[in-house]
Amino acid sequence: MFNLIAKIEVGFSRGESAKGLPSVYYRNEKTMFNSVKNSIARLKILGCIILVFSPAGAATAVEPLLTVKQIMNAVITPSTNTIWGAYQLETDAQWKEIESAALAVIAGANLLQMGGRGGDEAVIAQQAQWQRFTGQMVAASEKVLAAVAVKDEEALSAAGNDDLYPPCESCHQAYQSK
Ligand code: HEC
Repeated sequence: MFNLIAKIEVGFSRGESAKGLPSVYYRNEKTMFNSVKNSIARLKILGCIILVFSPAGAATAVEPLLTVKQIMNAVITPSTNTIWGAYQLETDAQWKEIESAALAVIAGANLLQMGGRGGDEAVIAQQAQWQRFTGQMVAASEKVLAAVAVKDEEALSAAGNDDLYPPCESCHQAYQSK
């Protein structure tokens, strides 16, 4: 199926912009018109292919399976404990553990972006403030990953304290007792 798309793509692309320079300078109006026609035809054909081959389940909405509390206790807390507890890392396996923990926080934050299963948790999650805090958790975890990539324990500890911790505090202040 992908071969088919590739062939159609190549077929329609041939003849366009051969020199790698802004091709518009080399074309007369007729070839430009043909090129636009080709592009439209290509879009139509790709559209049909996508429609025909889309998996049937693609339109099914994904529902949250965990409450916010479960995500906090099962995903976020164990992973952030691993990150915050990192100290004098030596082996590759130790660094790998931090990397996995940061990825788990990203996964947890991603779940929180969708919202939890409980009560109105999915509705609350649509608030800009909620999304900002979860986004900050993702960004902080990416900083952790960057520190892991160069095995920089100082950068790791800075990302943990200065970036990963604040969104926990802010979000709890705004939402935990409600
Ligand atoms: C986007 C908002 C948000 C962020 C960010 C967030 N939390 Fe939470 N957290 C909550 C909410 C809401 C609750 C209360 C859930 C409940 O009691 O139903 C909670 C509760 C908790 C609890 C208590 C769970 C319990 O059993 O009562 C812990 C522990 C926790 N969070 C850890 C963290 C840590 C660690 C971070 C940061 C790495 C963090 N949370 C970031 C929203 C957030």
